[in-house]
Amino acid sequence: MSNTPENFKEKIISLCKRRGFIFQSSEIYGGLKSAYDYGPLGVELKRNLMNEWWKSMVHKREDVIGLDASIIMHPKVWEASGHLAGFSDPLVDCLVSKERFRADKAPKLNVEDDITITCNDKGQAKNFQKIIEDRFNILLKREGKQLKGLKLIDEKNFGFFENNNTKPIKTFEYKGYVSPTFGCPFLSEERQFNLMFRSQIGPVDVLGEITTYIRKNKNISSDELRIGIDKLVKKSAVYLRPETAQAMFVQFLNCQQTMSMKIPFGIAQMGKSFRNEITTEHFIFRSCEFEQMEMEFFVEPGTQEKWLDYWVEKRMSWWQKFANHPENFRYRAHDESELAHYAEACYDIEYKYPWGYDELEGVASRTDYDLKKHAEQSGTKLSYFDQQKTDPDTGKNGWRYTPYVIEPAAGATRGLLVYLMDAYTEETVKDAKGNETTRIVMKLHPKLAPIKVAILPLVKKEGLPEIARKLVNELFELGINARYDEQHSIGKRYRRHDEAGTPFCITIDGQTKEDKSVTIRDRDTMKQERIPLVYLKEIIQKKLSEA
Ligand code: GAP
Repeated sequence: MSNTPENFKEKIISLCKRRGFIFQSSEIYGGLKSAYDYGPLGVELKRNLMNEWWKSMVHKREDVIGLDASIIMHPKVWEASGHLAGFSDPLVDCLVSKERFRADKAPKLNVEDDITITCNDKGQAKNFQKIIEDRFNILLKREGKQLKGLKLIDEKNFGFFENNNTKPIKTFEYKGYVSPTFGCPFLSEERQFNLMFRSQIGPVDVLGEITTYIRKNKNISSDELRIGIDKLVKKSAVYLRPETAQAMFVQFLNCQQTMSMKIPFGIAQMGKSFRNEITTEHFIFRSCEFEQMEMEFFVEPGTQEKWLDYWVEKRMSWWQKFANHPENFRYRAHDESELAHYAEACYDIEYKYPWGYDELEGVASRTDYDLKKHAEQSGTKLSYFDQQKTDPDTGKNGWRYTPYVIEPAAGATRGLLVYLMDAYTEETVKDAKGNETTRIVMKLHPKLAPIKVAILPLVKKEGLPEIARKLVNELFELGINARYDEQHSIGKRYRRHDEAGTPFCITIDGQTKEDKSVTIRDRDTMKQERIPLVYLKEIIQKKLSEA
C-alpha cells in the first residue's frame, strides 16, 4: 500500500490516538497548540526508551554518573550560557499574508529580480491584491494565482513597475528578504523573540509594581517605559530550562568531587525541556514541551576530536539497535555557518522522516566554553587538577585545566516518534473467511514495547479467566508488563495487540485445562506454538532478554 508523506504522518497520529499512545493536550477544551499527552501506551514506550538510554549511558558505564536537576535554575545560569541574549530569533510578520517567520532563514533576492507573489489559489491572490491596493496604494497585476509588477531595484529598495514601464511609479524599502511561503516583500520590522518560557518567582506581585511605575512615569517615552518595566520584571524572572545540559556544567564540581571522578568522565541527565518554538511542526517532532536525554562528557583539552568520533559512533549504533530499518539513520556534519556559538564541531544523527532527513540527536564538541562562562559569572573555579600530567605551559608536574566537553544531546520524545514511524507496518493478510485485509502491526523492539505479553483466555468461562489472571500475576512478579484481555473475539484481540506493538500473545484455551499447555503467538511472524505452561515464564524471559 503506497503512503504519501502526509498520509503516513496522519496514519501514525491516528494510531497513536486510537491505541492510547499520544493524545492532544486538553483535548476536551479544543486542545492546546503543539502540546501532547502520552497515554497509557505512550507513557510506557517513553519510559522504556528513556530507561534504555539511562542503562546504556549510566548503568553500563563506570565513567558516567547521573543527575536530576531542577527545571527552574538561577537566572544567571542563562545569562552565562548565552541563552538570555542569544537564544532568540529575529522574527518578521508579512503585512499581507500575516505569515510570521524567521528573518535569518528567509529567501533573499538578487538586484533586478522580479518579485512575484505566489498564492495558493486565485481566490487568495484576489484577496492579497486587494490588501496591497488598500494598504500600499498600488494595483498589482494578477495572473492566475500570481501577483506581478514588483522588482528589486537595489539592495535597499523595490518598486512597482506598472505595465512593464522602466521607471517605478512607487518605491518601498526592501528588508533584505521576502516571506518564505508567498515571496512577499511587504514586511514588518524585525523583532527579537526569546525562545525561553519566562515566569516569576516569589510572592511579590509584579503587576502591582508595574502599575505603580507606569503611574509615576506618565511623561516618559515608550522606549523608556519598556526598559523600566523590563527591569522590574527581570528582578523576579525565572525561566523554564530550554535544555537539560546547563545543570551538568553548573554541578560539574559537586558531581566530580562527590564521586571522585577522573577525567574523562560524563554527567548524564534526562527530562523535560521547554522552548517557545516559533514553528511547532510534525506532531511531536517539534513541540514547546519535550524531553531530552543529554550527557556532558568532560575530556582533556586536545583529546576532543577522538572523543567526538567515539560518541558519534556509539550513539548511532544505539539508535540503530532498536530499529527495524537501521538504513534510515545517517550522520551529517555541521558546516561552519550552522555551528552553535559554543561548538567547534557537531554531527547530527538524522532519521529519514516522511518529510525527509531531519535531526534526531546532535553530538557536539562544545570546547571549554560553558565551564569557563559559568566560572567567570559565578566566581567559582570550574577546573580539574590532574596530578599525573605535566602542565604543557610550565613543564611542571600536575596540570590544572578547564575540561573540554563532548555532548551527545538527544530528543527523547523525538526518538519516540522515530521508533513509532520505524515500527509502523501494513501487511496484506487473509482473514478467517479467506478475504484479503490489511494488518497494521507496530513492530516495536520488545525492549521498547509498552506491553510485553498479552494473556488472552479464549472464552470468559470454564475456569480460563482464572488461569489467565494467575499467569498475569506471576509475570508481574517477574517485572514483566503483562496485560489480561478478554474483550472481543480472539482475532480482534490479536489485531489490537498488533497495533499496540505487544510482541507476544498467550492464549489460554480448553486444552490448557487438559494438558497444561498454552499457545504463544509471535507478533511479527504471526506463528503460533503450543508450549507447556510450566516453561512459559522462562521462555518469555529468554525471548525478552535476547531481543
Ligand atoms: N544541549 C544541546 C541541545 O539542546 P539541540 O540540538 O537544541 O541541542 C537536542 O537539542 C535535541 O533535542 C534535538 O536533536 C532534538 O532531538 C531535541 N529537540 C530540540 N528541540 C526540540 C523541540 N522543540 N521539540 C522536540 N524535540 C526537540
